[in-house]
Amino acid sequence: MPSDRAPGDPVEIECYGPVARAVHWAVAALAVITVSLGWAIPEAPRGTESRETLLLLHRSAGLLILGLMVFRIGWRLTHPAPRLPAGFPRIEAAAAYADHVLLYLLFLVMPLSGYIGAAAAGHSVSVFGLFAIPPLLPVDPRLSQVAIAVHLAVQFLVYALVAVHVAAALMHRFVRRNRVLDRMLPLRRPG
Ligand code: HEM
Ligand code: HEM
Repeated sequence: MPSDRAPGDPVEIECYGPVARAVHWAVAALAVITVSLGWAIPEAPRGTESRETLLLLHRSAGLLILGLMVFRIGWRLTHPAPRLPAGFPRIEAAAAYADHVLLYLLFLVMPLSGYIGAAAAGHSVSVFGLFAIPPLLPVDPRLSQVAIAVHLAVQFLVYALVAVHVAAALMHRFVRRNRVLDRMLPLRRPG
């Protein structure tokens, strides 16, 4: 069985463990949902109930991503990634590493900028109507505007990096025909 192992464990890791895979696919699914909801927000007229619902769901899903990313970073720091297949070009390994680090970073920047945009405007953020996170910073309309501008701009970096990431995964699977994608697929393990 694949497993997540602590650093220093003598047994070589062949693929991502079940926790790393589960969180990877949970974040990927939530990202699709959050971005779709985000795109729908401007379509709903201001002050309508549908806009409020879209905002509630978008913010809640985004904060769920934030929680998962914080957990994931802690998990990753204590559970190293499996080694890449032998002979993997160093330049590609470096590019994959950079893509992963940037994805971690951007999936913190997106929810944090969204939260700051709301909090600096004096709004608490409800999480699926279950509980609310109060504004943890003083009201600052300028900061709120900057945060929302960052939020809206950084989405395009997210699209670019995810596109490169998915293209690389598919390239490994269908062109190189190696086992890189298998290491992250649920219920699969490299031979
Ligand atoms: C990974 C998490 C998130 C992603 C990927 C994301 C993505 C997006 C996208 C794609 C849009 C639509 C932008 C457009 O209309 O072009 C948007 C809008 C928005 N997001 Fe997020 N978001 C995330 C988290 C959050 C969070 C946690 C909050 C607040 C707590 C938030 C608040 C907002 C608001 C208020 C808007 C509307 C901005 C406006 O049109 O003025 N987002 N987001
Ligand atoms: C929003 C969507 C996604 C995000 C944010 C994301 C993020 C990440 C991150 C941060 C890693 C690095 C894991 C680590 O080593 O700590 C990773 C690995 C990986 N992801 Fe994604 N991913 C997404 C979607 C996808 C999709 C759709 C695929 C497949 C088509 C995919 C395939 C992989 C594979 C194969 C790896 C392992 C790469 C390796 O072993 O070097 N990801 N992903």
